[in-house]
Amino acid sequence: MDAKDLGDDLAKVLVTEAELRVRLAEMAREIEADYDSGEPPLLVGVLRGAVMVMADLARELRFHAEMDWMAVSSYGASTKSSGVVRILKDLDTEIAGRDVLIVEDIIDSGLTLAWLKENLESRGARSVRICTMLRKPEAAKVEVDVAYVGFDIPVDFVVGYGLDYAERYRNLRDVAVLATHVYAGE
Ligand code: IMP
Ligand code: MG
Repeated sequence: MDAKDLGDDLAKVLVTEAELRVRLAEMAREIEADYDSGEPPLLVGVLRGAVMVMADLARELRFHAEMDWMAVSSYGASTKSSGVVRILKDLDTEIAGRDVLIVEDIIDSGLTLAWLKENLESRGARSVRICTMLRKPEAAKVEVDVAYVGFDIPVDFVVGYGLDYAERYRNLRDVAVLATHVYAGE
């Protein structure tokens, strides 16, 4: 869906579909250059938000992009990330000795990714790097070493390009700031 299909649900479009596509191609060239010797990395997508970026990045890459998926959730009832993570769906791939590239939609506090990177390293991966389409630097609670970042954005709650609010808006083509009236009263 397009922003115009959503009436006044969106405060503003932050990154357009075209801008995402251009940046993704630049990131793919960086990734190809960094992994140009040896076996290509295993791309590990974090469900569900990373589906769009994984689909687009994998097709942009000029090497055989093997993909696997994890689903994780933070413990506790709070809507804020706690940093204590539970694996809902684990990898099907053995990663000992492999180069792993985690593919994410957004890094907010960084707690989920910090945990995930450490978890994959503990399985004996040769290297674990992170690629994220969006990052909110001002929301960082922990330092996470991120190798590839699409766009740094303000702390506003955003939807689209895989990102949801209550499982909606994931299929919006652009990344947009959600209007506050949509979640007012929660
Ligand atoms: P954190 O980096 O551990 O705080 O959590 C990151 C996760 O929170 C992401 O993978 C998203 O699922 C979710 N998230 C953080 N910020 C946003 C947002 O602006 N819109 C939608 N989901 C978000
Ligand atoms: Mg996510």
